[in-house]
Amino acid sequence: MEYVFLIIIAYLLGSIPTGLIVGKIGFKTDIREHGSGNLGATNTFRVLGVKAGIIVTIGDILKGTVAALLPILFQLENIQPLLIGVFAVIGHVYPIFAKFKGGKAVATSAGVILGVNWLLFVIMVISFLVILYLTKYVSLSSMLTGIIAIIVSIVQQDVGLIIVTSLLTIFVIYRHKANIKRIINKTEPKIKWMG
Ligand code: G3P
Repeated sequence: MEYVFLIIIAYLLGSIPTGLIVGKIGFKTDIREHGSGNLGATNTFRVLGVKAGIIVTIGDILKGTVAALLPILFQLENIQPLLIGVFAVIGHVYPIFAKFKGGKAVATSAGVILGVNWLLFVIMVISFLVILYLTKYVSLSSMLTGIIAIIVSIVQQDVGLIIVTSLLTIFVIYRHKANIKRIINKTEPKIKWMG
């Protein structure tokens, strides 16, 4: 019963459509109608600019982090934080508050990791930035960072983390199907403001 309670809260938390809220309130713009159409931080940067992008990135990360911390916040320490965090990611991707059309699982997944293993989060952020600098593709950087997270989890010999980083990375790659096609066709947009 406690699991169900925390899972529902995590899902609702993940469902908060940060990009939609910032876009509609601050810019009277629905980012789903512009750029890649994705309700995520990257498309917020693309459509609304750096300030809005940073706010949405932080908001989307925090959804995952707070979800992973719910067992501690509710003093239910026997409950697996990673499992609860996964439901925030599901909420972010299929948000009940935005017709189930959400983001690509990247920032909120990273937030879940931040809630349980800050060192892995730091490694992921550095990896993401280095790959982004080298390739200029946010989507490719997101997917490769997921794979790096699995490798680091294996090195850390943390079975729960290996399972969850693997599941989340598969989910991230699945959500990037269109990006993968565009990378292969060389039509995926590269970022312009780095390097
Ligand atoms: O975080 C999602 C990112 O990896 C790709 O976003 O808008 O370029 O499809 P987008």
